[in-house]
Amino acid sequence: MRAAALTLLSAASLAAAAFDPAIIVVEKSLGNAYQNTTIEVSPENDYANAEVLNQVSSLYQVGPDYTYFCFAYKPDGTFYSDEWFGLGKPLHLSTNNVVVQAITCRVE
Ligand SMILES: *[C@@H]1O[C@H](CO)[C@@H](O)[C@H](O)[C@H]1NC(C)=O
Repeated sequence: MRAAALTLLSAASLAAAAFDPAIIVVEKSLGNAYQNTTIEVSPENDYANAEVLNQVSSLYQVGPDYTYFCFAYKPDGTFYSDEWFGLGKPLHLSTNNVVVQAITCRVE
């Protein structure tokens, strides 16, 4: 009984670990400088906080230490780039800012 309960517990923590959020830095242009905001994007839910996403110049995945396959939506529902961004592969949208409607990140 005890062993079975422990096995269940570790299976549950493994499942949770498989869904670590992607740590994304949202960079915003202030004209003569840039400002970073760090957010978490769960692979289960798109991130769509307009307060953070209404002025974006670049997007970087900075954690965890494996890549996610992330895409940034335009307000019209299409992607800014057909190419994903992820660890070591930032997405530079503009030297100014653009509006990102949502960010979606998948594990594979
Ligand atoms: C924002 O974060 C990115 C990724 O870590 C980094 O390359 C960039 O220099 C940072 N910008 C500022 C203003 O800190």
